[in-house]
Amino acid sequence: MTPPTLTMPTPAIDAHVFKTYKRQPEVFVRGDGARLWDAQGKEYLDFLGGIAVSALGHNHARLVAELTDQLGRLVHTSNLFRHPYTEEVAERVTRLARMQAVFFTNSGTEANEAALKLARKHQRVLGHPARTGFVALEGSFHGRTLGALSVTHTAKYREPFEPLVPGVTFVPAQDAAALERALFELRPAALILEPIQGESGVRDLDFAYLRAARELCTRTGTVLIFDEVQSGSGRSGTFLVAEQAGVAPDVVTLAKAIAAGLPMGMCLASKALADTLQPGDHGSTFAGGPLVCRGALVFLRELEEGGLQAAVRERGAQLRAGLESIARECPVVLELRGRGLIQGLRLARGADELKTALYARGLIVNVTGGDVIRLLPPYVIRAEEVDRGLSLLRDALKQL
Ligand SMILES: Cc1ncc(COP(=O)(O)O)c(C=O)c1O
Repeated sequence: MTPPTLTMPTPAIDAHVFKTYKRQPEVFVRGDGARLWDAQGKEYLDFLGGIAVSALGHNHARLVAELTDQLGRLVHTSNLFRHPYTEEVAERVTRLARMQAVFFTNSGTEANEAALKLARKHQRVLGHPARTGFVALEGSFHGRTLGALSVTHTAKYREPFEPLVPGVTFVPAQDAAALERALFELRPAALILEPIQGESGVRDLDFAYLRAARELCTRTGTVLIFDEVQSGSGRSGTFLVAEQAGVAPDVVTLAKAIAAGLPMGMCLASKALADTLQPGDHGSTFAGGPLVCRGALVFLRELEEGGLQAAVRERGAQLRAGLESIARECPVVLELRGRGLIQGLRLARGADELKTALYARGLIVNVTGGDVIRLLPPYVIRAEEVDRGLSLLRDALKQL
C-alpha cells in the first residue's frame, strides 16, 4: 500500500485523535539519512531525530533489509518462548552499559516502571519493606505512566492525575547537601535521576554531583537509578553519560535510540539486583520480540563495529564548535548545553518563533524547557549536513 500523500489538516486529526499533542502542520512522507520530505516535496534537515530516536536516520539500508527479512520470518511469539536474537542484544547492551542483566520494555516510561518496581522489591528482599519511597530531582522527566509520572517534577503533567504514587520527594538538582539530607532522613527505596535532563532544557548535571549521588546512595543503601532514556545509547559520545562521569549506577534505563526507531526500552541492572524479580513479578506481552530485537541488533552493531560511536563524537564536536561561533555572534544565545548529539541553546527570547522560522527554512528542531532549542540529530548525520544546519540556524537567529 502506498502511503497517502494528502496533507491532512490538523483539525481533521483532532476530530478523531486525542489532543495530547500540539502537532505541526507538516506531513512527512519520506526520509533518507538526516533528511525528510513533506507531502509537498519540500526537503528538511532533521535535527530532532524523532525526539532522540532515529539514531540510524531514516530509511537506513541495513535496518530496512534486516527488518524486512524479519517481517517475512517472525514478528511475535511472546515472552513465553525464546527467539534467536535476545542473547546477542542482551550480551551487547549489558557489556556496553557495564551492567549484567536486562529487562525489555516497549518504551522509556515502562523502563522506568520496571526500575522503580525493581528498587522496591530489592529493598523488601533485603529486609527493608518500609523503604518504598523515591527521591527524584526538580526538573526531572521520567515518563507519563503513573509510576514514572510520580517521579516527574513538572506540576502541570502531574497535578491533573493526582493522587500519584505516594512517598516521592523532589530535591533541587545539583545540590549535594539537599540530597544528603533527603537520603539520610527519608531512607527511600531509590534515587532516580537523568544525568542530562533532556525535557527540562538539556540540563547537564555536573559529574561531581553525579559522583556525590553515587556515594550518598552507597552510604544509605539507596538504589541509584540513572534514567538514560534520552541521553544514553551512545548519544552523548559514550554509551552512557554515567561512563563519562565515572559513576556506576545500580540501575540504568534506556529507550528512544536503542532500536533505531522501533519501540523498545530496557531496564538494566546487576545480576544480584535483577534476580530479586522472580517469575510473575513483572512482564510485558510485546517487549523484546524478534522484530525489535533485530532492530536493536542492527543499531548496536553499527554503534560498535560500524564506527557510529566515533561519528557521534566527531559530529558532536563539530556541532558544538559551530554553536560556539554562533553564540559569539548572536547575543540572544545565553548558554550552550549538552554534549555529543544532545545539545541545546538557551535563548533570551523567541525560542518558539525561531523554531517556526527554522521549519520554514527546512530545519527541524524543537523547543524544550520553555527557552531552549534542542538538537538531537541522527548519529548518521554527515559533516556537510551539520554545517548546513548550523548555517540555517545562524541566519534565522540573526533575523530574530
Ligand atoms: C529521560 C526520559 N525518561 C523517560 C522518557 C519517557 O519515554 P517514553 O516516551 O518512551 O515513554 C523520556 C521521554 O522523553 C525521557 O526523556
